[in-house]
Amino acid sequence: MANCTDQGSNALNLQGRPPPFAKDTGVGPCLLLLHAFPLDHRLWAHQITSFRTSHRVIAHDVRGFGRSPLSQEPWSFSDIADDILCGLDTLNIPSLTAIGLSMGGYLAFELVRKRPSLIQRLVLADTRPDADNQEERSARTHLAESVSQIGTDSLVKIMAPKLLRKRPDPSVTKVIQRWIAEASPQAVIHALIAMRERPDSTPLLANIACPTLVLSGSEDLVTSVQDCRKLAEAISGSRYKEIPDSGHISNLENPTAFNRALDDFLSL
Ligand code: MLT
Repeated sequence: MANCTDQGSNALNLQGRPPPFAKDTGVGPCLLLLHAFPLDHRLWAHQITSFRTSHRVIAHDVRGFGRSPLSQEPWSFSDIADDILCGLDTLNIPSLTAIGLSMGGYLAFELVRKRPSLIQRLVLADTRPDADNQEERSARTHLAESVSQIGTDSLVKIMAPKLLRKRPDPSVTKVIQRWIAEASPQAVIHALIAMRERPDSTPLLANIACPTLVLSGSEDLVTSVQDCRKLAEAISGSRYKEIPDSGHISNLENPTAFNRALDDFLSL
């Protein structure tokens, strides 16, 4: 069991209120959906609709994003993994398929590190295991300062084009811009600092023994196709699939191809 009491004042309430996850729907083997930055569980709408007929689908919100209460204190991915493990223990879920996209992948690595027996299958989409380099760390600091001064406006301008393919569907652009604008500036700042400080998960890859699928948007500008291929090569026996006509948020830009890849993997 995770240590559910040893957390900050914004740790999940384990006395039954509020529910530990933003979405918990469907019946069957459990899928845990871990969202990208600076988004929330709504990123997974297409996957929730498709898979809840055959699976129990749980979508998580990182502290301060979506439906999760804001933490005044900074946090690390280790803290968020503890939130998730406490929530899963409360719901008596001993094993599942973890599906992490980008920042959600950083969280999935943390779950593997903390409780490998939880992860029956692993899906890593548009993510990478290494820590930030010096230039990336400085960019995180700079962006956190800008969000603290002027709110999420700068984030919408910087992030939205990076998350999408070269010629995005205007309706997807609109929804992404809205979701970013709705993100809590304080939550965004905490997430930027957590990403800046996250550990290198490369050494963990050799220990991943469960069936693993690595997915990459064919036009991903944040985590390149090469990065994702390299990640797949480092995980023994893993499968790799490119999602055509999609950028970083491959599950939202091409849900049909993403869901097919996921379904094929889950049916193995
Ligand atoms: C994400 O999509 O979660 C972020 O782009 C990840 C990152 O900035 O490292």
